Amino acid sequence: MAPEQLLDNTSQTDAGATANAPTPSAKDSEKSVVEAYFNSTGFDRWNRIYSDSEDVNKVQRNIRIGHQKTVDQVLAWLQEEGNLAERSFCDAGCGVGSLSLPLAALGAGSIQASDLSEAMVNEASRRATEQGIDPARLQFSASDLESLEGRYDTVICLDVFIHYPQEPAEQMVEHLASLAERRLLVSFAPYTPLLAVLKRIGELFPGPSKTTRAYTLRESGIVAAAERRGFRLVRRSLNQAPFYFSRLIEFERA
Ligand SMILES: C[S@@+](CC[C@H](N)C(=O)[O-])C[C@H]1O[C@@H](n2cnc3c(N)ncnc32)[C@H](O)[C@@H]1O
Repeated sequence: MAPEQLLDNTSQTDAGATANAPTPSAKDSEKSVVEAYFNSTGFDRWNRIYSDSEDVNKVQRNIRIGHQKTVDQVLAWLQEEGNLAERSFCDAGCGVGSLSLPLAALGAGSIQASDLSEAMVNEASRRATEQGIDPARLQFSASDLESLEGRYDTVICLDVFIHYPQEPAEQMVEHLASLAERRLLVSFAPYTPLLAVLKRIGELFPGPSKTTRAYTLRESGIVAAAERRGFRLVRRSLNQAPFYFSRLIEFERA
């Protein structure tokens, strides 16, 4: 996604296991770090990026532009298929509602939007109220996407896997696929040799963390994870801007 993230050199903080508590898995530790980040400095940063605020630097402005391309591409694909009013959607890791809000405005039947960060989901809910969106059609909850249950026509998860290594990300894809009746759309920062080099260069520079740890993912593994759950790739696009690089894939149940 963003070299602002890709060049980051954050080291993982200890999740605080005690002698009596079960040791958290590496994935749980990763989630705790991500949750804390998006409830504090990350909320402030991403809430500004995903808004019209002028209070963004050049990198953040470009991330905003690139991310909007991903959102616009998803909305275009969903509208192309049509029947929005008859379909149910799950927006996993919804952030401040950059996808859910316009999707509701386009007349989606029902949307369950959730995010690990309470701060992000509260802001999404505030924006929905501000825009006069019918709360009966767009519902919010704070949740880890791997705790989500239920069945939805279409499950969408945009730019969330940047925070997780390959194996946990693939497990997340499998879980999301299990919730999807017909369609699954995911976007993530794809592994490329160039980005790998940039990330390695970034790790050479000492200094305070700007954000959470960031991961690029091998597309073949993401596709294989969806296939294990009975989905096949329908189409894909690469959405980019300076400092933003995101592979979007649409899967359908085979
Ligand atoms: C870069 S933002 C993208 C937000 C939104 N999907 C969008 O495209 O506008 C990443 C979001 O993923 C959320 N997130 C990270 N790990 C998550 C998890 N395990 N379950 C649910 N949300 C998660 C973060 O809290 C954050 O809001």
